[in-house]
Amino acid sequence: MIIVTGGAGFIGANFVLRWLQQADEPLLVIDKLTYAGNLDNLADVQGDDRFGFERADICDRDRIVALLAQRRPRAIVHFAAESHVDRSIHGPGEFVRTNVTGTFELLEAARAYWSELQANDRKAFRFLHVSTDEVYGSLGADDPAFSETTPYAPNSPYAASKAAADHLVRAYHHTYGLPTLTGNCSNNYGPFQFPEKLIPLTIANALEGQALPVYGDGQNVRDWLYVTDHCDALARVLEAGRPGETYNIGGKNEVKNIAVVQTICTILDELRPSARPYAQQITFVTDRPGHDRRYAIDPGKIERELGWTPAETFTTGLRRTVRWYLDHPDWVARVRDGRYREWIERQYGATAPSPQPLSR
Ligand code: NAD
Ligand code: TYD
Repeated sequence: MIIVTGGAGFIGANFVLRWLQQADEPLLVIDKLTYAGNLDNLADVQGDDRFGFERADICDRDRIVALLAQRRPRAIVHFAAESHVDRSIHGPGEFVRTNVTGTFELLEAARAYWSELQANDRKAFRFLHVSTDEVYGSLGADDPAFSETTPYAPNSPYAASKAAADHLVRAYHHTYGLPTLTGNCSNNYGPFQFPEKLIPLTIANALEGQALPVYGDGQNVRDWLYVTDHCDALARVLEAGRPGETYNIGGKNEVKNIAVVQTICTILDELRPSARPYAQQITFVTDRPGHDRRYAIDPGKIERELGWTPAETFTTGLRRTVRWYLDHPDWVARVRDGRYREWIERQYGATAPSPQPLSR
């Protein structure tokens, strides 16, 4: 079996659902269920014998050690993190705690478990760390895309905390021989993304008649990848990646933010026409401090070495995403009004605070 940390979040949940559709191997999700963890995302696999869930904090090493001893996984796929740049600007402490200390505690638990395995199991074990392209910093308009050898230059507290985690993972391979793998992926979008990130926020606000906030001049560029393409890339890295290596994952879909928002408006105008074009709701707002101008991933290594290529273009993936949000108004409503926390609090106690809207 495999263990998936952060499996109740956006990418983790997509990974879990896809894994259980495609592989006949059980998995255990370990998730603290912060504001970003939503068990609604995993509703389709509740009751599946191959699926297990434990509410636990990755910083709690003893708990992780006990779970590893009990479940005896052949791999850990590590998604758990604080993931929103704007939240890291308002409160960086939680990012250092989960992304740096949490990854360290998880690595220590994994190392202790792995070092006691039989030779064959030790060789086959994998620790797959899910990271971001934001560790490389910001590109100018004409710079080449990030490769695996681009120097790290993180600019936000989020990016710095992920960079620190990446360095720890690298060191655990280099020093102890732990069979680690790292994926550095560009911006994801798709079903179950928390509506504080650009694409789901734009869709939800548009439908509610609210402003569509675009930071600064809207000319910042992100390289978008549909979430299931990322999940497939990770499954491939887990299967065939070389221990100690990092793989850049991206779909060569560079788009300016203003174009992302305008395209969503155009799709909504067609699929859910309103009295006036949705683009009239676009509002330019104060820029994010230290806002990275451009990200772009060169996915040449994963394409060449592992034969991975994305199935979705930005055009097909964005339509699919808008349709998903239109088809799941209850999911959106339960997240937006906080109801998704009610079951968690009944089941586990009110230990995690409800999400607070970010003040701008
Ligand atoms: P998310 O915020 O939607 O989900 C994070 C999950 O981790 C939540 O379920 C949360 O409850 C859980 N979690 C947080 N702190 C925890 C802790 N201390 N212990 C256990 N669980 C904890 O994030 P996401 O967008 O799904 O991102 C997943 C991973 O992918 C992150 O590591 C992120 O850095 C990386 N990543 C994200 C993107 C993106 O565009 N979203 C792109 C590249 C890489
Ligand atoms: P986001 O989804 O927060 O991802 P990241 O900061 O990790 O790239 O933001 C994507 C881009 O959209 C980023 O350049 C910031 C911008 N943005 C807005 O213009 N308005 C918004 O309301 C949000 C949330 C983001």
